[in-house]
Amino acid sequence: MHYLFEKGASYGKKLLLLHGTGGDETSLVEIARYLDEEATVLSFRGTIQESGMNRFFKRNGLNQFDLVSLEEESDRLIQMILSVSEKKGIQLEEWVIVGYSNGANIAAHILLERHFAIKQAILLHPMSLGVDSQNFPLSDKKIWLSVSENDPIVSKEASDQLIQQLKNRQATVTIMPTNSGHQITMDEINQAKRWLSEL
Ligand code: MLT
Repeated sequence: MHYLFEKGASYGKKLLLLHGTGGDETSLVEIARYLDEEATVLSFRGTIQESGMNRFFKRNGLNQFDLVSLEEESDRLIQMILSVSEKKGIQLEEWVIVGYSNGANIAAHILLERHFAIKQAILLHPMSLGVDSQNFPLSDKKIWLSVSENDPIVSKEASDQLIQQLKNRQATVTIMPTNSGHQITMDEINQAKRWLSEL
């Protein structure tokens, strides 16, 4: 799996970036640097190709998720995170995931469905993938997420469902409403930056 790693200051945040459909490992780096210019950055490229666009798991049309691929790719991503973290001497607990769209969706899936030590995430325009098979508590997780009322990809039901899943499992959820469709706005990034600085 392709990834980019840039070491930051020892006191900087450790940001783990997961891009949206059609992005790559460089897509969120500028945002990460804005969130914390001293951050260490680890950014993966999704291994699935859809008409030349990188993704983190397969789908059979818009929001028709391939759940077999989702589980396989979640395993692959977890293995990669474990291996790079070990190689670079970074504890899993130190990472803050920053995921957008498809990248936010696989991140939320991993947090909900796997016992995984990463505790913090900024999820830009995520949605529920409809999988809810676990019931272990997520009381150690702090999730900031943005939702837009007029998002053409993420319906209100799908974002509400994810928020409900996280809250039912006692995650601490901070929600930022936006009205810019599926786009990331400066307002969003500024709010996420404030939240991150208070972690
Ligand atoms: C997904 O496939 O994860 C969602 O539809 C979001 C996206 O298109 O990336």
